[in-house]
Amino acid sequence: MNPCSQSRSVVFITGASSGFGLVTSLVFAEAGYFVLASMRDLSKQESLLEQARERNVAINIECITMDVTKQDDIDYVIPEVIERFGSIDVLVNNAGYAAGGFTEELSSEDWRRQFETNVFGLIAVTKAVLSHMRRRKRGTIINLSSISGRMALPGLGPYSASKYAIEGFSESLRLEMLPYNVHVVLIEPGSYQTDIWSKGMTDFNTDLESPYQERTNALKKIVNHIAETADNPEEVAHLILKTAQANHPDLRYPVGKNVKNMTRLKNLLPWRWLERVILKKTSPRK
Ligand SMILES: NC(=O)c1ccc[n+]([C@@H]2O[C@H](COP(=O)([O-])OP(=O)(O)OC[C@H]3O[C@@H](n4cnc5c(N)ncnc54)[C@H](OP(=O)(O)O)[C@@H]3O)[C@@H](O)[C@H]2O)c1
Repeated sequence: MNPCSQSRSVVFITGASSGFGLVTSLVFAEAGYFVLASMRDLSKQESLLEQARERNVAINIECITMDVTKQDDIDYVIPEVIERFGSIDVLVNNAGYAAGGFTEELSSEDWRRQFETNVFGLIAVTKAVLSHMRRRKRGTIINLSSISGRMALPGLGPYSASKYAIEGFSESLRLEMLPYNVHVVLIEPGSYQTDIWSKGMTDFNTDLESPYQERTNALKKIVNHIAETADNPEEVAHLILKTAQANHPDLRYPVGKNVKNMTRLKNLLPWRWLERVILKKTSPRK
């Protein structure tokens, strides 16, 4: 047992080796939480620990191995953390990736892999903390959704479908757990500078004969532009901290350039208008 952690709030974060997970670990550590920064490959912990040392908060962070698609990992790690630290006050379900590609050209395996991580992994980790939080009548579960969970784009079907699934799951779970004072929250970021852009686009078909080739290239250009102009992930990490500290957090927190406007427009405009705009923006330039 780490003596420093006994009286402090404990946050468990998945996918803490990079991006939002890494920065969120630092921000919670700076706020005085004890952070269990879980990652599937512990050899990647140095980047987080180095930044934690620079910010003088390394003492508040412990890195731990957990692949959210491995039930054995979850069954071992979560009870062990609760036993050692006495509680998990906040769970941040962050681990995820974006599979890019057109549906006709993606394999069923591509779809399953996307759902195994982004949906079934998130549900499995959540299930592992529920009885603990329910019995304590205390806890916050923060799920990383996306603007892609409110509005879908062509070429990102598996990712959007996975985030829409998380939205539905979180709405339902929120209603199940509110009577026990356990809050379920959705963070819905727009585009932020993390590794997601370089990792996810590998599933796109590169076959020159593909009927989708021109549209794939157009989408890749858009994605590259988005990646270059995306915002600093620290903004999202601070929002996650704010929701964790709120006594009665809302269900949804859209965040990022134009995200609120886009969801508002989707509710206001007839779908036919919207699809014309999206198709125009994502089509190859003539
Ligand atoms: N960046 C954005 O603009 C954006 C916008 C909206 C939502 N999001 C969401 O934010 C979350 C974090 O993504 P990010 O942008 O920070 O990307 P990232 O830098 O690629 O981070 C993703 C993290 O998830 C981990 N991960 C992937 N599969 C895993 C598994 N099976 N088990 C455990 N960890 C796993 C990765 O580990 P490895 O290092 O081992 O791959 C990495 O630590 C995702 O849910 C993503 O959908 C991101």
